[in-house]
Order: sequence, then C-alpha cells, then structure tokens
Amino acid sequence: MIAKKVLLVGNFGVGKTSLIRRFVLNQFSEDYISTIGVRVSSKVVLYENKEIKLLIWDVAGTSGDEKIPKAYFLGASAAMFVFDLSREETYLTIDNYLESIRHLSGLKDITIVGNKKDLLTKEELETVIETISVKIDLITSAKEDENVESAFLQLASQAIK
Ligand code: GTP
Repeated sequence: MIAKKVLLVGNFGVGKTSLIRRFVLNQFSEDYISTIGVRVSSKVVLYENKEIKLLIWDVAGTSGDEKIPKAYFLGASAAMFVFDLSREETYLTIDNYLESIRHLSGLKDITIVGNKKDLLTKEELETVIETISVKIDLITSAKEDENVESAFLQLASQAIK
C-alpha cells in the first residue's frame, strides 16, 4: 500500500483537529484544545480503487505573519488550507498565506477548505464566498459532518498526482 504524507494548515481554532477527528474517528467535540507543534494521525482511503494510507499532519494554528517550520513539509505530497467561515481574520490574508505555503512546501495545488458552515446563514455564506479572492474547494462542517470525507478525498487525489 502506498503511504502519503498530507498536512492541514491554517489559523488558530479554524477546526483542523476537528476535521481530522471527524474523518478518522467520526467524532466531534465542542472543546477547544489548541494543538501544540504537530500531531500525526492516519487513515486508509480508497481512491480510484487504490488503497492509500494518508499520514495526516495536524499542524498547530498560525497567525498570518507567523511561519510554519519548513521541516514539517519535508516529504509532503499535499496540503489543505483550512479557514473559519465565521471569522474574517482567518481568511483576510488568504493570498499571502497560500503563497507562503506554496513557497515553503513546493506544492502547487493546495486544497482550500472553509469550515464551520453550520454557524452561517445561507446569505452570510454567499457574502463570504464573494469576499474571498481565491477559489474555495470545499465548504465543510466538522460538527455536522458535511463534506469532510470529500475534502480528504480531494487531498488524497492531489497526493497521488
Ligand atoms: P489549533 O490547534 O489551535 O490550530 O485549532 P484547530 O484548527 O485544530 O481547531 P479545533 O479543531 O481545535 O477547533 C476549534 C474550535 O472550533 C473547537 O471548539 C471546535 O469544537 C470548534 N469547531 C471545529 N469545527 C467546527 C464546525 O464545523 N462547526 C462548529 N460550530 N464548531 C467547530
């Protein structure tokens, strides 16, 4: 079986750990325990009839100007950038953030995920989508288990490219 290292990055508290927890364990918790450093989980996914073992690196949240240690990206095949649809500060500088990740990791495609859909009305969601300058790949809710699996499958598809 092939194994691929993938990373989740983004601001503090956007739901990176919660997305992984939903995907790997099908659980959700309202508690917020900030990740320190990095935490690795794994799950085998089936993509186009191939089994892929995803080694999922949950990287501690950063603010826009803080750099993720370059060593975290060593050997990484794909990355997911997660922001919080309900908190503007997590996507205001999305362009810079993505540029910095592309530069550090050498990865071209980054899966862009807006999380916590359950906290917004339909109108609020539309406004956020219009505000953001980059194309959002998936809108998720770790809480309500919406689109979480799809987000990780897209990550897997980029990892095997
Ligand atoms: P850092 O480790 O600090 O970078 O945070 P993180 O990005 O891993 O966020 P985490 O998963 O710890 O979630 C932060 C808070 O948001 C927790 O209280 C979660 O319960 C909550 N949360 C995460 N995902 C969702 C969601 O989809 N909807 C709602 N309503 N809350 C969520």
